[in-house]
Amino acid sequence: MTELVYLNGDYLPLTEAKVSVLDRGFLFGDGVYEVIPAYGGKLFRLEDHIVRLNNSLAGIRLTVPHGVADWQAIFQPLLSAGKDQYIYLQITRGYAPTRDHGFPETVVPTVFAMCSEIKPFPGKSAGIKAITLDDTRWQLCNIKAITLLANILLRQQALDRDCAEAILVKNGYVIEGAASNLFAVIDGELITPPKSNEILPGITRDVILELASADGIPCREDIIALEGLQTAEEVWVASSTREILAVVELDGKPIGTGKPGPVWQRLDDLLQTYKKSLS
Ligand code: PDD
Repeated sequence: MTELVYLNGDYLPLTEAKVSVLDRGFLFGDGVYEVIPAYGGKLFRLEDHIVRLNNSLAGIRLTVPHGVADWQAIFQPLLSAGKDQYIYLQITRGYAPTRDHGFPETVVPTVFAMCSEIKPFPGKSAGIKAITLDDTRWQLCNIKAITLLANILLRQQALDRDCAEAILVKNGYVIEGAASNLFAVIDGELITPPKSNEILPGITRDVILELASADGIPCREDIIALEGLQTAEEVWVASSTREILAVVELDGKPIGTGKPGPVWQRLDDLLQTYKKSLS
């Protein structure tokens, strides 16, 4: 079966989807993206993802005149029922006749969407290893920009050291992962850094906070010092494609008991039940 993708109003096989080498996404990384999970063919928290998309678009001064229903209609033909998948949506400032940093006079955004399977993260039940690294990214991390060079170099440094994620540190405080948000259980309380221009406002993060509050788990948005993370009872990272992963080893030292903790187990159970209730 040929995989269908969406490009600028058409559905076509992946191998036939082409954009110009003068596209500003290719030349400058001038664009934004979204990763939207779909369970059993149903898009998860689509409205929230579109709010974040619109914030990202506004952040780079790009307009795409689509509402939630338009996006839903665009994505639906890419999804198949009965599978856990995600939509990758990328919007760039499009083709410009010459390479010039300033915006072109006429902007026709390039809109591309494809669908991939969400595979269960290998070794999820055992937890993952992570390293801490200096946050070398720019100052607008709330924009989901396709320009991800810092993130990929950071993630690769983690992979090179047999770790699944890099946890980023700025001025002695932990911020988020290279492609995930961060949670810690400290003195029995679930804590995650507050939304700001330093982190991507993760949709999974919001869901976790909602589920935890509804379940009576004490939780709070607050800054976390690196030393606080090192001595936390539990540390997790969260994202749409990896869901919630317990970090059991940080910089070669165990977190808590060195095994995924009970609060992580509870939240993962709640998340799985919540997903099933929607699909
Ligand atoms: N990334 N922080 C960063 C830097 C991220 O790249 C991501 C997700 C998150 C979590 O956001 P959400 O819960 O909405 O997925 C936080 C996606 C999965 C990616 O780049 O592929």
